[in-house]
Amino acid sequence: LNIVVLMGGWSAEREVSLMSGAGVADALESLGHRVTRIDMGHDVAARLADARPDLVFNALHGTPGEDGSVQGMLDLMGLRYTHSGMVTSVIAIDKQLTKQALVPHGIPMPGGHIVRSEGLFERDPMARPYVLKPVNEGSSVGVAIVTEEGNYGNPIMRSAIGPWSEFDELLAEPFIRGRELTVAVLGDRALGVTELKPRNGFYDYDAKYTEGLTEHVCPAEVPEEIARACMELAVESHRLLGCKGASRSDFRWDDNMGADGLFLLEVNTQPGMTPLSLVPEQAKAVGMSYAELVQWIVEEAL
Ligand code: DAL
Ligand code: MG
Repeated sequence: LNIVVLMGGWSAEREVSLMSGAGVADALESLGHRVTRIDMGHDVAARLADARPDLVFNALHGTPGEDGSVQGMLDLMGLRYTHSGMVTSVIAIDKQLTKQALVPHGIPMPGGHIVRSEGLFERDPMARPYVLKPVNEGSSVGVAIVTEEGNYGNPIMRSAIGPWSEFDELLAEPFIRGRELTVAVLGDRALGVTELKPRNGFYDYDAKYTEGLTEHVCPAEVPEEIARACMELAVESHRLLGCKGASRSDFRWDDNMGADGLFLLEVNTQPGMTPLSLVPEQAKAVGMSYAELVQWIVEEAL
């Protein structure tokens, strides 16, 4: 097939997307496809029209590749593409809209509300500990955990936010103590549960993309009941949001609270495909190589 890999772009996750895109493009070439790599700029529509692909492999993360904009453009151009469609992407990129879509269906998610970032640290928006995060970023960009002792966030947050300059509004959510779990979903199948154990306690941008900073325990060492609940919630959330192809659902589990302590944080419709990413890792754990995973995503999209 003639496949365009869309990657890069101008989101805060540009570098991550370049890594995902490079991995995907190499795999597609090894599978015998003809591949054009496009680092997305504002001329993307013209470049796609020139390439006339049979399929667009969307390896973008963040805005506008994960928020429905690129999906809408591809719909208008009549091009087939991988992963979720426009409406699903609009909802899933927004952590608050995701709650509004899923909580009424019984998916447990932390409560939360949008706060103005101005003056935030003069008055807590809710009881500590809580989390502040942009509603529509990925890879923990801009996320801070505010505890009784103070607040700590990732380096991107500290430099970007100064006093929170980059984001006018943030989502404030109660911090769920305990453990970080994630589930990859391919269509109607959950692959497994991975626990992330970041060495410095916070699974932030560096912990996500620096080899050795986070231990990945796959399959997670959690009670069978919790693993099953995670996988069921991930498949159900994928279905309720209308996701297509691959998605990844992220959870926190307060292990003092048993099954009542499990909360979905979000559904990622453009999960990372880098060498340290979790969907390829879970695929491998069930005997599916990186190239087989890429081929599955391609076939599912045709
Ligand atoms: N936002 C990153 C790419 C992920 O979910 O894997
Ligand atoms: Mg995310």
